[in-house]
Amino acid sequence: MSSLKRILVTGATGKQGGAVIKALLALPPSPPFELVALTRNVNSPSAQALGRKPNVTLLQGDFADVPAIFRQAGAPFYGVFSVQTPMNHHKEEAEGKALAEEAAKNGVEHFIYTSADRGGPKRSDEDATPIPHFISKFNIEERLKTVAAETNGRMRWTIIRPVAFMENLTPDFFGKVMGTAWRFNGRKMQIVSVESIGILAAEAFKNPDQYTGKSISLATDALSFSEANAIFKKKFGHDMPNTYDFIGKIVLFLTWKQLGIMFKWIREEGFGANPEEYRRRFPSMLNFAEWLEQSSKFRK
Ligand SMILES: NC(=O)c1ccc[n+]([C@@H]2O[C@H](COP(=O)([O-])OP(=O)(O)OC[C@H]3O[C@@H](n4cnc5c(N)ncnc54)[C@H](OP(=O)(O)O)[C@@H]3O)[C@@H](O)[C@H]2O)c1
Repeated sequence: MSSLKRILVTGATGKQGGAVIKALLALPPSPPFELVALTRNVNSPSAQALGRKPNVTLLQGDFADVPAIFRQAGAPFYGVFSVQTPMNHHKEEAEGKALAEEAAKNGVEHFIYTSADRGGPKRSDEDATPIPHFISKFNIEERLKTVAAETNGRMRWTIIRPVAFMENLTPDFFGKVMGTAWRFNGRKMQIVSVESIGILAAEAFKNPDQYTGKSISLATDALSFSEANAIFKKKFGHDMPNTYDFIGKIVLFLTWKQLGIMFKWIREEGFGANPEEYRRRFPSMLNFAEWLEQSSKFRK
């Protein structure tokens, strides 16, 4: 059996989990961890691509049965990276809590949960916000702290609280809605690329002492729509994706419980990370201009 520390990466075929795997594999010297990528379908093209990477093995599993994930793992996990999808916040909460509980029962030593910023470190600790898929994250965080405390310090935890993803800005209709919501925002919005989340999670797994018991609000830029649009236009010669006001309003109305209420909160309350803090520490974390150039799907 491998002597490397095993890390279960959930959401491995998705944005954040994928970024965590990329960043962990990039750690010098040769990867110190064995990565176990959780997916509901080991035969999907994205899972297969992951499975071809060195030090990555695939594990088929579903949050619908979290104990089975640990039973099928074959050997204990040193670490877990936890991410859930937000479409049904009740399900999200149940899955996120179950993963933390099962990790605590199964000897995990470092559990990293990626949540969402709710107005900076202090407010995020205290205020669940009125947004259903932020409330679920608040409750998962609380449960994680409780079950970790019950292990008498054996399971350490780190919470990453990212702000809005730069990856929301896509060259399709969804990107147009995101651009329009950003325009409605009327003031600076904090943003981060998922690669930065991967970099931070990998650093935390590598240096647990520095990150144990920490909840980190993560942004790498803060721009108004017009500032972002000026950067975008300079690079690509046309405006950032956005659409007519009435279309934006209809979509935000129809998706009120997911997007509408969240953009209202972003407009009225707003994220509270410090966009300079982690970029200073990790220069490879991209700001918006760098992300457009190096990582986005936009091309000249
Ligand atoms: N977008 C933003 O601006 C933003 C900002 C802050 C926080 N967030 C939060 O980020 C989270 C989403 O992260 P993401 O964007 O990285 O997700 P994503 O790209 O949509 O990926 C979701 C992943 O979850 C896996 N998955 C889905 N259902 C599953 C289940 N039942 N059991 C096991 N795995 C399952 C999928 O893997 P398979 O299909 O391979 O199984 C997929 O890899 C949400 O909670 C959201 O609220 C988003």
